[in-house]
Amino acid sequence: MTIISIIVAFDKNQLIGRNNHLPWLIKEDFKFFKDTTMGHPVVMGKNTWLSIGKPLDGRINIILTRDVSFQINGCLTVNSIEQVFAEYPDQEVFIIGGSEVFRQFLPFAGKIYLTRIDYKFEGDVYFPYVNWKEWEIMSFEQKISESGYNLSFETWEKRDDKL
Ligand SMILES: NC(=O)c1ccc[n+]([C@@H]2O[C@H](COP(=O)([O-])OP(=O)(O)OC[C@H]3O[C@@H](n4cnc5c(N)ncnc54)[C@H](OP(=O)(O)O)[C@@H]3O)[C@@H](O)[C@H]2O)c1
Repeated sequence: MTIISIIVAFDKNQLIGRNNHLPWLIKEDFKFFKDTTMGHPVVMGKNTWLSIGKPLDGRINIILTRDVSFQINGCLTVNSIEQVFAEYPDQEVFIIGGSEVFRQFLPFAGKIYLTRIDYKFEGDVYFPYVNWKEWEIMSFEQKISESGYNLSFETWEKRDDKL
């Protein structure tokens, strides 16, 4: 079975993006993202790919698009979420965004790696609604970023009876 893990950073309103970019630049979060996802396949929507603009090193980069002719050197493309499950059985796959892709994978996710930023940013895309009662927190670490934001790095697991 594919293990679906979501990794996301959001603000006080669950905001995740602005004008197809991150609303913030927090190097501690980039490091957390890199350390957590390294060595694993990462799945992203085409907009997130356009925002990142280059393959993430040390990881199989999978881009979701409905455009069957879309090809990028150093990345794989898939045209449906079912293809991800079919091609990556028995391993942990990280869903790295954005909003549209998080929404589709959330019902299948067993883990959420969350960076919570204690600030309200301006933006236009949000993480989907999560019923946190179905989840339990497994780890929690607070940090103040060099840029002055209060962060918490949280790992959540879907409760066994909700899987
Ligand atoms: N804060 C965070 O942790 C975080 C993480 C990642 C991204 N972001 C932000 O999120 C924003 C982008 O999110 P978004 O919702 O606009 O876009 P997205 O989810 O990155 O990409 C959406 C695109 O993915 C493709 N797609 C989605 N579902 C598909 C499916 N079932 N089958 C085939 N293709 C599918 C489609 O591409 P085609 O149109 O080519 O068919 C669709 O237009 C940006 O602002 C980015 O910076 C934030």
